[in-house]
Parts: sequence; C-alpha cells; structure tokens
Amino acid sequence: MIKTYNETEIKKIRTACEVAAECLALLKNSVQPGMTTEELDMIAMNFLSERRVRPAFLGYRGYPKALCVSINEEVVHGIPSKNRVIRSGDIVSLDIGTEIDGYYGDTATTVPVGNVDNSIKELIATGSFSLEQAIEKAAAGNRLYDVSSAVQEIAEKKGYSVVREFVGHGIGSKLHEEPQIPNFGTPGTGPILEEGMVFAIEPMVNMGTFKIEVLEDNWTAVTMDGKPSVHFEHTVVVRKNKGEILTWPKKRD
Ligand code: MF3
Ligand code: CO
Ligand code: CO
Repeated sequence: MIKTYNETEIKKIRTACEVAAECLALLKNSVQPGMTTEELDMIAMNFLSERRVRPAFLGYRGYPKALCVSINEEVVHGIPSKNRVIRSGDIVSLDIGTEIDGYYGDTATTVPVGNVDNSIKELIATGSFSLEQAIEKAAAGNRLYDVSSAVQEIAEKKGYSVVREFVGHGIGSKLHEEPQIPNFGTPGTGPILEEGMVFAIEPMVNMGTFKIEVLEDNWTAVTMDGKPSVHFEHTVVVRKNKGEILTWPKKRD
C-alpha cells in the first residue's frame, strides 16, 4: 500500500524537508580540501541541534552519524570519520535526513571539490539531470516505473550505469516507506501514481559498472571497479503534472 498525504501532513513533511535542504546547502558551502568528513557531520549536528531537529539517520539501523559522506567510488552510506580527509579532485556525496514531530525529509547531492576532471563533472551533471527528469515523471496518473526508467535512460544513454542494490523510497511519517523506487525499470509499468504520494527519489549513477560491494564497516557501498559514483536525492510530492520538490531551502523575505 502506498500512502497518500493530505495538505496538512504535506505541510509538516515540507517543514522537515526545508531544514534538511538548508542543512545540505550549508554542507555544500562548507566542503573544502583538507577537512575531514567528521567535521562535516559536526556541522550538520550543530545546525540541526540549534533548530531542535532530529537527525533521522543517527541510530537508524545502528547507523552512527547524522550524515552520510561518500567520496569518489563510494556510492552511499560513507560514515563520517576524523581519519578521512577530503582532497582537491574528490567528488563528495552528502546525504542528510531530518525528522520533526514524526515527519521526515531526506535529500542528497554530489559536489566537486577543487580541480575535478571534466569527465567526472559530466557524471555529476548527468546524475543531477536524471533526478530532475525523474521528478517530471512523478505526476498523478503516471506509473511508478516511469520515474525509475527516466533515471536509467538518461544514465545509460551517456554510457553510465545505475545501481541496483539501493533504491529510492516512499517517505512521510517514516524515513523509509513503501514503495521502493528503483533507478531502473520499464516505462508504463508499476503502480499508478496518485496526488499526495511522497517519494524520496534518489538516483545513484556510476561511471563504470553498476556492481557495488559493501565494505567491512557494513555500511560504505563502493563501486566494484573503483570508478566514481554520484548520488542526488529530493523528497517530492506527486502532483497533477509533475512532482513538487519539498527539499528546497525555505524562502525568506
Ligand atoms: N541513504 C539513505 C536514504 O537516502 C538513508 C541512509 S540510512 C542510514 O534513504 F542508516 F545510513 F542513515
Ligand atoms: Co538520503
Ligand atoms: Co532516501
């Protein structure tokens, strides 16, 4: 069963999402060569605690931090560490989840640090574009795998691949709800989308093989060929003509 949320509930989800988006923007602007991934986690922790917002990942299935920081060939779930230093030429995926009064937000992005290869910048641009296009498909009356296939088509057209083991998900009153939202699939198939469904759409696009493995720490997923991977995520509500992004920083005037 895929839940639909009413406007009162969507407002609450949006509140959690806005804080997640603001936190992600802060992190994006903070990333610098020479800093550790632990420092980024501390920035997120401080930001969220000032706003009395619970970091949704902390303690989730035993995850030890607020933030996931995945560098280069790391796909997702990199655990911040005081021993991991960010270098010029790295690409850094940042993923943050929030909870306010029982409602959740989840958003991720990948940023280049210092001098990054053009071929890797192209991967970043494609990952970002695949998310945009997937969100366009999150329209009432479409099928779920219209969203999935948008990601796959865009990635594969460029010669990249999409990760199979990790997927997007429903979100709202839990961090992870039905349905699973793969980044691959057959257009025109899957459940029919209805207005008020809320999805975390999160393409993970690899430059080389789609195959991944999980490191000894039981969290960090890396590509099998060591080639880079990017991750982009928005929490989105299904609307009449396309998805509406909830994970934008709050507009202030
Ligand atoms: N990356 C996952 C997502 O976006 C959530 C991380 S779960 C955690 O859905 F346990 F690693 F925090
Ligand atoms: Co996430
Ligand atoms: Co997610």
